[in-house]
Amino acid sequence: MPAPDLETIVSLCKRRGFIFPAAELYGGFANTYDYGPLGVELKRNIRDAWWRAMVRERDDVVGLDAALITHPRVWVASGHVATFNDPLVDCKKCRQRWRLDHLLEGDYGPVKRDAAGNPLCPNDGGELTEPRQFNLMFKTQIGTVADDSAIAYLPPETAQGIFINFENVVNSMRRKLPFGIAQTRVSFRNEITPGKFVFRTLEFEQMEMEYFCFPPKDRENPAEYLELHQQWIAARLAWYRDTLGIEASRLRIRNHEKAELSHYSAGTADIEYLFPWGWGELEGIAARTDFDLTAHGNESGHPITYFDEETHQHLVPWVIEPAAGLTRTLAVTLLDAYTEEPDEKGDKRVVLKFRPNVAPVKIAVLPLSKNETLRPFARKIYDMLRTSWMTQYDETQSIGRRYRRQDEIGTPVCITVDFQSVGEGGNTGDDAVTLRDRDTQEQVRIPVANLMAALRERLPGC
Ligand code: GAP
Repeated sequence: MPAPDLETIVSLCKRRGFIFPAAELYGGFANTYDYGPLGVELKRNIRDAWWRAMVRERDDVVGLDAALITHPRVWVASGHVATFNDPLVDCKKCRQRWRLDHLLEGDYGPVKRDAAGNPLCPNDGGELTEPRQFNLMFKTQIGTVADDSAIAYLPPETAQGIFINFENVVNSMRRKLPFGIAQTRVSFRNEITPGKFVFRTLEFEQMEMEYFCFPPKDRENPAEYLELHQQWIAARLAWYRDTLGIEASRLRIRNHEKAELSHYSAGTADIEYLFPWGWGELEGIAARTDFDLTAHGNESGHPITYFDEETHQHLVPWVIEPAAGLTRTLAVTLLDAYTEEPDEKGDKRVVLKFRPNVAPVKIAVLPLSKNETLRPFARKIYDMLRTSWMTQYDETQSIGRRYRRQDEIGTPVCITVDFQSVGEGGNTGDDAVTLRDRDTQEQVRIPVANLMAALRERLPGC
């Protein structure tokens, strides 16, 4: 099935409690969203899947949770104060502000131009101002005195917290190269351009890892370093496909052109997804060389090095950085899972075909009806399962409607408790329940004694 249009997903997200536009009560707030009860579970599951693949299942990566608000010179060293800018233009007629690079890429529709070829306002065709550089970092102020020494920044990425803790991790964890430090955290960017749902927001979560390795033998021709870069690109692409279950044909690698590369980068590749509006970045995997550790060494006056016990030399490690957007990955997971298919009556059945590991709710326990004889049995099953898996209990409306509700939020397994389970008319029940599979809609009868094992099999990685 082709990817759904964005409006379909935005509306489902609001209706079913995944994502709400922020502050609607006050007329909304551009490029910000609130994650509802199901959105927060989905986000947590994607984050956990990343952490599991990047930290728990690897011997060579450890985790970190660095302070959000940190010394402002961190952002001087990283280059963000001087260069983390977007080129902005204003329409002289309607005053609407645009990001020039996005405008030229056609993000706001076909590019209108005047006779001399200058781009015009996508809104009303008005003349645009000369571009001005606009820094994307949010400034804040520490304490009560509003002078320059009190300025701090909200972090625009998580990476710098990792670089400034490199020595702490090496010393406290006795780490040897190569090894990585991983972190998931909120980041902030003053994005003025109209975002596409949670694709581009003011506040978003990132999942970043800095993988430190020995410097290459030949700085100008760093073959072994570029080979490591390729390995990380392959590993990260496989994660989206095999762990999150994203359709392979909607994923691609885009290598940055030489002109696009930052001056310190030996190469950057983006993992892109085919969004409803075209290909867009999901994760960047950058070969950052020794730029960041050197820059922090220079700015702080304390060189950051690693002591190689074999050669008895201090060296500055090189870095590969897979930097993913958690909230953007969440949008992709939703878009990619969305399916419409006819049900047995020919009506539309909407199913979010999440992999069980990311599904916000794993199991729904559904007594056939509200009948008093079913409830204690069904509640017992619910209480048994909820300690192991995110489980919902629902006894309102017809069973068909309840299945449909669970399909629409992507619950992989529904468990139905009926009169056969509990017994009726003086007969004892069979102490079994019906398991219904979300995707095939097949139903099987399982004795309660075998239920946990049957669910473990159906919910891998949960
Ligand atoms: N440390 C490198 C870094 O931050 P980036 O390409 O600017 O690299 C990494 O960001 C990822 O963070 C992007 O691929 C994207 O998924 C996500 N991201 C960046 N800006 C975002 C925004 N305004 N809203 C949502 N996600 C964003």
